[in-house]
Amino acid sequence: VIRSIVRGVGAYVPSRVVTNAELAERIDTSDEWIVERSGIRQRHIAAKDETTSDLGLAAARQALVRSAIDPVDIDLVICATATPDRTFPSTAVRIQAALGITKGAAFDVQAVCSGFIYAMSIADNFLKAGQSRRALVIGAETFSRILDWEDRSTCVLFGDGAGAVVLEALPQHGDRNDRGILSTRIRSDGRFEDLLYVDGGPGSTGTVGHLRMNGREVFRHAIQKISGVIEETLLQAGYASDEIDLFVPHQANKRILDGIAKKLNVPPERIVMTLDRHGNTSAASIPLALNHAFEHHLLGENKLVLLEAMGGGFTWGAILVRW
Ligand code: ACO
Repeated sequence: VIRSIVRGVGAYVPSRVVTNAELAERIDTSDEWIVERSGIRQRHIAAKDETTSDLGLAAARQALVRSAIDPVDIDLVICATATPDRTFPSTAVRIQAALGITKGAAFDVQAVCSGFIYAMSIADNFLKAGQSRRALVIGAETFSRILDWEDRSTCVLFGDGAGAVVLEALPQHGDRNDRGILSTRIRSDGRFEDLLYVDGGPGSTGTVGHLRMNGREVFRHAIQKISGVIEETLLQAGYASDEIDLFVPHQANKRILDGIAKKLNVPPERIVMTLDRHGNTSAASIPLALNHAFEHHLLGENKLVLLEAMGGGFTWGAILVRW
């Protein structure tokens, strides 16, 4: 059978770091509140002239170099983003063009914080169906541009960044010990739009708008939805949660991650945590965390890795991959 093997991972964050203390100079908040409620200590913020495609391109270039794959051999580019450079064309085609790729297909996926899980699942299906051979999957965001910097309940939680992986279709035996993506599950339920949305767009105000979130209510849904979809993903591939070597979750809130770990009985040392340095970077958070794991030698060959996310929509999902 054909499996999607992860050939390489890369990431990029803007150089500007904004600490909690710096935010506390501008709005009524404190380092203590932010750390205690979310686990976030700092975030990176894009420069004025730095776009989502700039961040995505830098992450993609690093992933390609580490994969030893020439950009011209990529025939599928998917960019997960809720903060595209423009309404159209997609951020993915801008990255495709900047890499000098003129064949295959490129498109964006919009599933907010679950975007990277969605994009990986789509790429996996294209590869397994034989429609593409090598895919570049990017998560890139500049949430700083859709934050209401006067709203302390949201602006302290997010940051900018990008990450990318290169996937290649390669034959495997077809059993549970295969390398590559072993199972994917994506879900959505649009009834919860009012709990997490952006109050702008061409069809509403005609402006870009700002992120609005009922954090307490989102939190209430998160642990149950995420642990449910993780259980389905593991079951489909014939694994139990205690067999996961590394857990690479979307980084929204440390308390959510602790809750899931407790529910699924995953020891804390198996969870990659980068939200203290990046904040919530939406679709970029999983590949940023994967990059951290790679650079700290946590992603050796044959490691069983679980990715999961939940975000606006609601959307949520999980992926099990053997590295
Ligand atoms: N500094 C100081 N005080 C604050 C701040 C702040 N930055 N923000 C809010 N407060 C105050 C509130 O006004 C409130 O005061 P009150 O009790 O006098 O009304 C108090 O702190 C508590 O507010 P809560 O919202 O109840 O705080 P909570 O413990 O729920 O933590 C948080 C808030 C961190 C947002 C949490 O609810 C959370 O993480 N939710 C989930 C977020 C998430 O996972 N989002 C999904 C992904 S994002 C995406 O898809 C785009």
